[in-house]
Amino acid sequence: MSFLAYLTLPVYGLILFVVYQYYRFFMKPKSQLAHYEKQGLPVIFAPFWGFLQGLTESVQKHKDIFYAWKQLNYMNPKPRAFASNLGATPVVALKDPELIKAFYMTQEKSYIKAPAACDVAKMILRNGTLLVDGNQWKAHRKLSNPLYSFDHVKERIPEIVAVTNKMLDKLKEKDLKKVNFMREMQHILLEITGKLFFDLELSSLSFKGDTVSGFVADLIDRSAVEALTPFTIFFSTDIVKTGIHPRHKALVKDINDLRGFLYGAAKAKLGEILAAKANGTATGKLPLLLEILYQQHQKLTEEHLDEVDLVDEFAMFTLGSMDTTSHAITFASYFHLNCPESQKKLPQEVNEIFKDLSQVSMDSLNKMDYMTAVLKETLRMAAPLPNFLPRQATEDHKLGDLDIRAGTIVVVAGVTNNFDPEYHDDPNTFNPERWLDEKSKTRQSTSKNAYISLPFSTGARSCSGREMGIALVRIVFGLFVKKFNYQYTDKNYEMVFTTKLFQEPLETLNYSLTPKN
Ligand code: HEM
Repeated sequence: MSFLAYLTLPVYGLILFVVYQYYRFFMKPKSQLAHYEKQGLPVIFAPFWGFLQGLTESVQKHKDIFYAWKQLNYMNPKPRAFASNLGATPVVALKDPELIKAFYMTQEKSYIKAPAACDVAKMILRNGTLLVDGNQWKAHRKLSNPLYSFDHVKERIPEIVAVTNKMLDKLKEKDLKKVNFMREMQHILLEITGKLFFDLELSSLSFKGDTVSGFVADLIDRSAVEALTPFTIFFSTDIVKTGIHPRHKALVKDINDLRGFLYGAAKAKLGEILAAKANGTATGKLPLLLEILYQQHQKLTEEHLDEVDLVDEFAMFTLGSMDTTSHAITFASYFHLNCPESQKKLPQEVNEIFKDLSQVSMDSLNKMDYMTAVLKETLRMAAPLPNFLPRQATEDHKLGDLDIRAGTIVVVAGVTNNFDPEYHDDPNTFNPERWLDEKSKTRQSTSKNAYISLPFSTGARSCSGREMGIALVRIVFGLFVKKFNYQYTDKNYEMVFTTKLFQEPLETLNYSLTPKN
């Protein structure tokens, strides 16, 4: 009897499974990457892990997740893009600003947000603007646009100043010897978001034994981490939703509970409004999101979202304003602390602008030239979303002369250009002055080609909350600098950058704070 005849069905099954996985994770991506290699792109293939392997090694060896990407700037010739893989899927990272421009022009037609990167976070945001595509995105963007408009942000400045001031005064009552800075910023920003959009004081509530902000921040981190585990890469992100693994089960439950909590809050607010309108006791203007909620409940608008959709948008504001902005402020605080010029100039400016809080307005905030330069330089050195969210091509198409195949994940490798000496002098140094000096290489190159530096993205899918985000950084970080001196609790602290959904510090950044008189 031959050897093969001894093998049973399960063994044949196992062999077939192994062969198929070898084909899926090794042969297929390699042959797909050959398509990009033929077009002159450097290819970095790593079985299964793909580009995540390079990022992990960069953190371990160089304390910077994008070290290897930044090194592309020193290759000769400098690549326009490079290709790698994520599990079985080819990935193309764009560096050449002309390719980036071509991508932005075709993104709505030929791409969706890559499910591998976005689907787990989508469990939290569901139909919130950031992660949906096509008509769903159009409806959400249209209905939420008034909330983000310049006029709306302008109108809400006094409220943002008042809430920030109150929260920073409350902070003084805490133990200031060791403050987890990013957490505090998330706490303040969530309070602002709650007040502005839902007239809720979220900082006074706790959720499952944590502050709401702490819980939301952890949940976002957990969902980002789950999206890229070996288990998820192997089975696809759908496996997380099934809750088979106990960690996934806990994540799904926490997401549902949080959404239930937000939905309950929205419902309760709507109930209050309806009752006040019915009794004729409604006074003053409603926060805009509540107004939209009310109008839609009364079907006063032609196109309307339902209450669940509005909770999605509330989750969106929470993520947008709490998390991206708290990351930006955390990075700014770190760079500011290490920059003698900024230490000298920024406090002077904030003391002047915030001398009389009742006078702070969009006009006065727009005079914060040094703060604006600090923010721009922070976003160059460490943007919360330096490469934006990965997209996946839905059809074969051309980006400039680059032939992209359907199914390829495309990333805008903005971080490479932010550190390219062709565009910035001394690119590894934090230097806000480069944004103030019209003749600096940075100002010259970015004014010639805006696609070099896009911390808020561009085009139809650019950040809706740009005006709000800039105002929040100016106010929250500005008032913080006015009210506190701060130092590292660990004198040797050096920020190591990593990414979850957003770029963030690998180790918690703790400061000791001293209130100023
Ligand atoms: C410094 C602060 C911020 C930065 C650096 C930032 C950056 C970005 C970036 C890069 C995107 C594009 C993501 C992509 O498509 O891959 C984006 C989208 C978005 N951001 Fe922001 N953001 C900030 C603050 C905010 C704030 C405060 C809000 C809301 C209050 C907000 C709401 C949004 C929304 C709704 C989108 C989705 C737009 C769409 O897909 O149509 N962002 N943001």
